[in-house]
Formats: sequence, C-alpha cells, structure tokens
Amino acid sequence: MAASLSAPLVEMRGVSKSFPGVRANDCVSLSLGPGEVLALLGENGAGKSTLMNILCGLYRPDSGEILVRGSKERIEGPADAQRLGIGMVHQNFKLVDSMTVLENIILGMKEGFVPNMARIEKEVLALAEKYNLKVEPRESIWQLSVGEQQRVEILKLLYRKAEILILDEPTAVLTPQESYELSKVVRNLKSEGKSAIFITHKMEEVMLFCDRVMVLRKGAVAAETRTADTSPRDLARLMVGREVLFELDKKPFAPGATILRLDKVSALDDRGLPALKEFSLELHGGEILGFAGVAGNGQRELAEVITGLRDLSSGRIILGGKDMSRASPLAFIKAGVAHIPQDRTSVGAVGDMSVASNLAMKKYRKRPLSAGILLLPRRVTAMAKRLIESFRIMTPGPETRVKFLSGGNIQKTILAREIGACQKLLVAVYPSRGLDIGATEFVRRQLVAQRDDGRGVLFVSEDIDELIQVADRIAVMFEGRIMAIIPAREAEPEKLGLLMAGVGGDR
Ligand SMILES: Nc1ncnc2c1ncn2[C@@H]1O[C@H](COP(=O)(O)OP(=O)(O)OP(=O)(O)O)[C@@H](O)[C@H]1O
Ligand SMILES: [Mg+2]
Repeated sequence: MAASLSAPLVEMRGVSKSFPGVRANDCVSLSLGPGEVLALLGENGAGKSTLMNILCGLYRPDSGEILVRGSKERIEGPADAQRLGIGMVHQNFKLVDSMTVLENIILGMKEGFVPNMARIEKEVLALAEKYNLKVEPRESIWQLSVGEQQRVEILKLLYRKAEILILDEPTAVLTPQESYELSKVVRNLKSEGKSAIFITHKMEEVMLFCDRVMVLRKGAVAAETRTADTSPRDLARLMVGREVLFELDKKPFAPGATILRLDKVSALDDRGLPALKEFSLELHGGEILGFAGVAGNGQRELAEVITGLRDLSSGRIILGGKDMSRASPLAFIKAGVAHIPQDRTSVGAVGDMSVASNLAMKKYRKRPLSAGILLLPRRVTAMAKRLIESFRIMTPGPETRVKFLSGGNIQKTILAREIGACQKLLVAVYPSRGLDIGATEFVRRQLVAQRDDGRGVLFVSEDIDELIQVADRIAVMFEGRIMAIIPAREAEPEKLGLLMAGVGGDR
C-alpha cells in the first residue's frame, strides 16, 4: 500500500447525502488519525449516523470521496469496510436474538464449511479477556442485557480485526457504571493504536476520553476542535446554535390528592425471579416522584405493573381510588395513564407507520380524532402537525414513515404521543435517553408542566443531577425495594449514590 506516514488513517472529503426531503450530509469533511478518538456531536437529526453509515458501507454518498490509509476507496458494502478494517456498532444493535454470542460473532464470515467452534470460542474468550469485555460465548442474545449485547457487538468488530471502530451512541443505553467501563475499553483500544469515532450526547464523555471533537449542525460541519481547547458549555452552544440554559423553572411543590397507591406489590421479572418485593408507595397529583437506582433493580417492572403490562403476584394497585390490580393495559390507558417505556425501539413506535399514525395511536378512539367509529384523517394530520412543531420532531412531514427518522427523533415522537395523551399519571422511564441537549431540556420542562397542571409523574432516571433538578421527592430503589424516599431539596448526590448501592436507608 502506498500510504505515506503522515497521512490520516481515514479521510472523508466533501461528502454529501440526501434523502427525500432532507439533506442529511452537506459537504462534510472529516479526518481521523491512528490512535485517535474523535467525538462526533450534533443535535438529533444532524446527520451523525448517516455519515457513519456511509463510512461503513451501508449508504452510498451522493458525492465526495473517502480515503483510507492515504488511498482512495469505494466502500460499496459492509464487506468492503471490513476489508479496510472499519467496523461499526449501530445505534440499534443488529444482533440476531435467537442465536448465540459466538454464532453472532462469526455471522457472515467465511469460517469454512464446518466452523471450528472450539477454536473460535477460544479466540473470542482471549479477546474478551484482553479488552475486558466479559461475555458468555454460548448464551443466546435474547438472554443478555443491553450492556452485554454491546460487548458482543464490540467483540464482533475486534474479531474481524477492525482498526477503526465507529460507536454510534453506545452509552445512551448503558448505566453510568457500564459507560465508565466502556470508556476504559476505548482507552485500551487507543493505546494499541486503534482509532475510534464516538457519537454521544454526553459532554462529560467527550471531555473524558476523546482527543478531538467535530460538531455537525443540519448536516454540515459547524465546528472542529481539540478537546483540550473547548468546554462542555462551548460544545453545547455550537451544537444548538444558541446559549443553553441548564436551569429549570418550577412552581413551588403543592401536592394534591393521592393519585396512585401501591400496597405491598410483588411481581416477577422475565426470568421468573422476584423483581418487586412487597413494594408500597403513594404518588400525589402535582407531584414528580423520581426513582433513582442502578438499572435492573426493579424500575422496569415497576413501570410495567402500573401500566398493566405485567401481572402482580400479590398486592394491590389503586389508581384514582379504583382497584386496578388486575386491569389490562387498555384499562390503564383509558384511566388516563401514559407510559414512556424503557425499550423504545421494540415497543414504543411502529416503524412502518407514519409519524401522524404513531402520534395518534393512543387517541384515535376518542373525540376529536374520531366520531363514533369514524376516524377523521384531517384532524389526525392537524394534531400531528401541532405535536411535530411543539416537540420539534425533525421529519419531512406527518406522512413520513417513522423508520426514516433519526434515533432521537423517533424518541421525540413517542414522547410527544405519551405526554400529549397523559390525563392523570405519566410514567416516564429514562425519557431523555438518546435526546440531544436541547430536547432533553424540553422534555424536563414538559414533565414539570404535567406536574404543574396537577397530574402525577413517576420519573425513572439514572442521572442523579437530573433527578434532583426535576423531581419533588426521590425514591431510591435497590433489589426490588425502596431504600428511602427523600425530598429532592434535601437530596445530596453522595447520599443517593450510597443508597443506590444498597448502603444505609430505612430498611
Ligand atoms: N434511510 C433514510 N431515509 C430517509 N431519511 C433518512 C434516512 N436515514 C436518515 N434520514 C434522515 O436524515 C437526517 C439525519 O439523520 P441521522 O440519523 O443521520 O441523524 P443523527 O445525527 O444520527 O440523529 P440522532 O442523534 O437522533 O441519532 C434526518 O432528518 C433523518 O430523518
Ligand atoms: Mg443517530
């Protein structure tokens, strides 16, 4: 190869890509050196995933060129990218659920007619050990947590000898602890001379382990700088194009009547193990009850039992004075409960339906969208346009199918639908995951607006600062129980951190 030593490992020059109604990348140039970690930032819909999909061969650019190790390359498919040592972990993982870890890792590779699984397993385990990516090679993907699935995705790239790793919002679905572990993995890769492009909405991560930052705005490069020469505040401004205020206006806390009561509720998780253990709580109108805790301590199951998606093994749920312990999900919706679920790619939105239909999903049975059994399409469109505007959903129009939206804009569609449909109680599980800074700020304000209108909000988050800012009371969950409930005004991050680890508390 005729690569000169000074040449960057990867160079994209003047790359443009349009989709119907959007210019996703507008003459973007980017370079990545060996052993370098480049952060790629930008608002939801700015064109980050598109640009990286071009680099890994999933999309073909309309114009522009790509150089790898100094020579011009045509990357026509993932196989070309792999040959060049480029690999990507996508925003929504692409593993096959029913297959094992090992089968996924070698999927599509030429491993001979009968692959030598024993040898492959040994190699995978050696890689896992070397990079501290713990996995069970013989488990099936559906048995794994998202954090584990991500480790499989990374191992898959390393097994294919990727030198340039593209990670598209890897930390959006991780717990803070897992994110920290991932940062160590990236550092480790870097120390071996491998390079990475890291997409994130979290400024701390950029500052912590990225060498350079590139900011995209509306498909074009808005800034490029060394991390050492910038600050989180500067980056936020560059992304959004205005000063970002990190404050939140709230009316004083004035709780109303009890909306939701849980009386010694117990429930099992998907594997049949106890997830909630005699769990009791009371939530008032006009209150945001925050739930802190490391993911996997019953938060998901809590949200599911109070929306009718999971059966109780014992205990009672009283909603607005009515016993809902055995009620169906539809009964909860009719009772005015809205739910922003944890897993938004599989249960939150229907990709093949339009943005408008997705937005109307919870309201189409009622006036004003329908009269009797008749759906009124013009009213559906009008409502959709209103929500698209107020939630700033980036879409060519209400008729666009949801699967063509960027990751964050799919999230916003679900948020708009649920918040728009909330009448009594909003159950919001990690609502700001995958959202950019501006949208996160907007969602927090929406939660507060629900509360100021007298509704109850149950808000699960792993971000302690966010909980202290948004919630009125904070409950800390540990192993299916509440460790303590603290007024947010009196909450201290250190104390919450200890409670989350199961230390201290009322029981
Ligand atoms: N396959 C596609 N068909 C049509 N439009 C698309 C397609 N992929 C992306 N787009 C559009 O291109 C624009 C950029 O999307 P992209 O997914 O690159 O954004 P992003 O920066 O990754 O955002 P996010 O932070 O929300 O993930 C968006 O307007 C999106 O709707
Ligand atoms: Mg994206």
